[in-house]
Parts: sequence; structure tokens; C-alpha cells
Amino acid sequence: VATPVAPGRYLMAQREAELEIVPGTRTRVWGYDGVFPGPTFDVRRGEPIAVEVRNELPAPTSTHLHGGVTPAESDGYPTDLIVATAHADAFTPGAHSHMAVAADQWRLHDGGREYEYPLDQPAAGLWYHDHRMDFTAPQVWRGLAGMFLIRDEEEDRLGLPSGERELPMMICDRAFDADGDFKYPAVDDSLLAEPGVTGDFHQGVEGDVALVNGTPWPVVSVDTGTYRLRLVNASNARRYRLERDDGGDFVQIGSDQGLLARPQRLKTLTMSPGERFDVLVDFGGHRVGDRVVLRNLLGTGEMAELLRFDVDRGGGTGYTVPDRLADPVEISAEDSVAEREFAFALTNHSHGQMWTINGRPFDPADSLASPELNTVERWTFTSDFHHPVHLHLAHFRVLTRNGKPPVPEDAGWKDTVDLRPYEFVEVAVRFTGHRGRYMMHCHNLEHEDMAMMANFDVV
Ligand code: C2O
Ligand code: CU
Ligand code: CU
Repeated sequence: VATPVAPGRYLMAQREAELEIVPGTRTRVWGYDGVFPGPTFDVRRGEPIAVEVRNELPAPTSTHLHGGVTPAESDGYPTDLIVATAHADAFTPGAHSHMAVAADQWRLHDGGREYEYPLDQPAAGLWYHDHRMDFTAPQVWRGLAGMFLIRDEEEDRLGLPSGERELPMMICDRAFDADGDFKYPAVDDSLLAEPGVTGDFHQGVEGDVALVNGTPWPVVSVDTGTYRLRLVNASNARRYRLERDDGGDFVQIGSDQGLLARPQRLKTLTMSPGERFDVLVDFGGHRVGDRVVLRNLLGTGEMAELLRFDVDRGGGTGYTVPDRLADPVEISAEDSVAEREFAFALTNHSHGQMWTINGRPFDPADSLASPELNTVERWTFTSDFHHPVHLHLAHFRVLTRNGKPPVPEDAGWKDTVDLRPYEFVEVAVRFTGHRGRYMMHCHNLEHEDMAMMANFDVV
């Protein structure tokens, strides 16, 4: 848990540390405060905070609050980098990128910098992670990610399961090498010199060990009551489809951007990278001694299971879910003042094949759209592969999927949508908050590093 150093002020140091992730072995991680996941923030709407991040790692970093509504300067833009003081000389911007970023497009901060988070947004489960240009995938893989929970009165009123009954769960996959370190198949030891991903990792990098909060296949001791799971898929490229092996439901109460108007019951829950789900699970029908496995229907072998709940105690407190959870802002296609289309696809370029948006590899000097603040636009995303499409700053409602009604996982306010191969998804995006430069990108982090990213300017 993140604790403020002064009212409204937090400090995190990015450090290398050795953790025991697999029992009996040591894993070197890059962690916020040397832990993985990083400290969990528990903050309130209407109480702005400042977070100072210090970089003690041998590589530049940038911290993005995924799902946050922040001024552009605090967004953790990929070229807005904190360069580790001791190693500043080793980083030469402009020289290394396959996208040849001009030197004047890098904004470098020595050693550390402060991010301002206004927290003028509804209660929701966000997360933060590294966003360094070209290297987000390997740096997040090494551990630079954590959770960030915003609360508000609307949520308080529901009296949801809390304390030990609220379980933040950052789900990701990793591979390990013989020494116990995280194995990133591309360029593990040359993060200073080479683009983050080379070779044939076009589908993104997946591991063979499932981690929940940094622990492989954890066992969670529960009673016969109701628990609230704050799920985030923090994997670089892996999608999951969760199912309880006792046939029980997930009662979804929240999406990426907070509470749903009404709960929905799901037997399975598909999560693409970057998406969050707020769900209730109830063990009321169980007896002490029962075990409930959380399966992953998209995984085989060891990836077919994520964790196990052991019902160790009776007398749990159940929770009756109200029919009406919240009053989120409602928008529709009729509110839209402009329409745009963005094609997420592999295209041929002089440097070989690249993941692009509308045929253009990411260029920090480019901007694909200039929506106006306080308007709504209708955007259509098309794809040739699985691309979890994510927008910074702007949040959206999914209107249609392939011209049909959205799937249950599209419910509520979203900032990330799972775009499946050859699909088109139509969303109504609302621009609120701050003018400035923001971005959209594929949240398959290897695709992001391979240029599937674009700027847009809210004007
Ligand atoms: Cu979680 Cu720009 O990303
Ligand atoms: Cu984001
Ligand atoms: Cu992608």
C-alpha cells in the first residue's frame, strides 16, 4: 500500500530488487519502491495528489497513470523520460529508435519528476506502469506496474465488501530463466541500446507462469462470504477468460472507469491487456474445506489455472447486490459531433513490417485527430489481429461490435477495448478534463513498442 510522505504527496523510487517469486529462487525485478507489483494507491475523488517518482534504475523511465484524467504534462508520455542520474550519460536520445525520434522531441528529467493527479473522476480501479518509448514492454515485464484505486461517496454508499474482503488482483504472465530471473525473449541485457523488441515477436510476448500480485498460482484463504475482486490484466500480450470451477458467477459491478449502472452476472470473463473488471464472488454455497479454482479457459497446461480459493472458515458475510449501483454519465451515438476511423494493422514499411494505426507508425510529431474538449465523437476501430485498443484521457462507451450489440465485457465506461481479429468496434468517446496531447495505442505492449501508437490532441 502506498503511504503519503505528507498530506497529498507520495514518493516512489524505481529500484532493482531481488524478490522470491518462485520459492527457493531469486528474481531480479525493476519495481516501484523495489516491489512487484508496486505499492497500491488508495485515494479519493476530489483529493488531488502529487506523486514524485525517482528513477534509480539503469535505464530511462516514464510513469503513466492508466485510466487517469490528468494534465498532459503528467500523463507519462513516452518521450517524457526520467533519466536515472547515475546513468544519464548512457542514454542518447534520437540515436537508437527505429522510429528515429528527433532529439528535440525528448523531454528529459534527471533523476526524478513529479506527476500531478487531480483525481476529479469517479471511483474506479486504475493502474500505473512504465511507458518509455520503444521499451514499455520489457520494462513492464521487469516489474514496473502497480494498482491505483480511486474511491468516492457513490461507491461508499454501496457498502461493498472491504478490508480483507476486497482483493486487488494484478494478473500477468512471466517466463523465468534458469537463474530465476524474468526471461524476456528479445533483448534482455541491452535495454540501453536497442529497441525494446526485435526478432519475431509480432504476436507479443507471453510467459508460461501465471502471477497474481506477483505470486505464481496463489492460494487465497476465504470464508463463506462475498469478496470483491479488483482485477487488472497487466500482461504484455496475454488474454484470459476466467471461470470459476464451481460453476459460480462473477457479478460484475464495475468496468475500467468505475461502477456500472446495474450489476451483471457472468459465467466467464474475458480480459485483454489493460482492461480492469470489478467483480463480486460469493462463496455462500460452500462448506469449509471446499476449494474453488479460478480457471483460465484461454490457457493450456499450467496457464489453464490462475489461483485457488480455499474456503477455510464459515460464518462469512454475504453481500446483497443492489439493482442500481450508480448513476454514470450516459451518452449515445446522437451526442457525437464527428466521426473517425482508426485501422489497427500490420503494414509494410522500409524497416520491415510494423504495427501501425491508419498505416502510420508512431511519430511523436504527428497527430491523428484534434477533438474538442467537452464533446463526444464516434470512433470506429478496425483490426487484423487481437488489439486491445486503449485511449489516454478520453473514456468511451462501446456502441457496437461488428454492427451488433456489444459483448458483456464492453459494459460501462471503458478506456481499453478488446478488438478481436477482423472486427470493427464502434465507440462513443467523451473528451473531458484537460486540453493537450494524448495518445491511443494498442495495449499489447510489444505492438505498442513496435509503433502501434498515435497522438491525438484535445483542443
Ligand atoms: Cu496502460 Cu498508454 O497505457
Ligand atoms: Cu493509459
Ligand atoms: Cu496490437
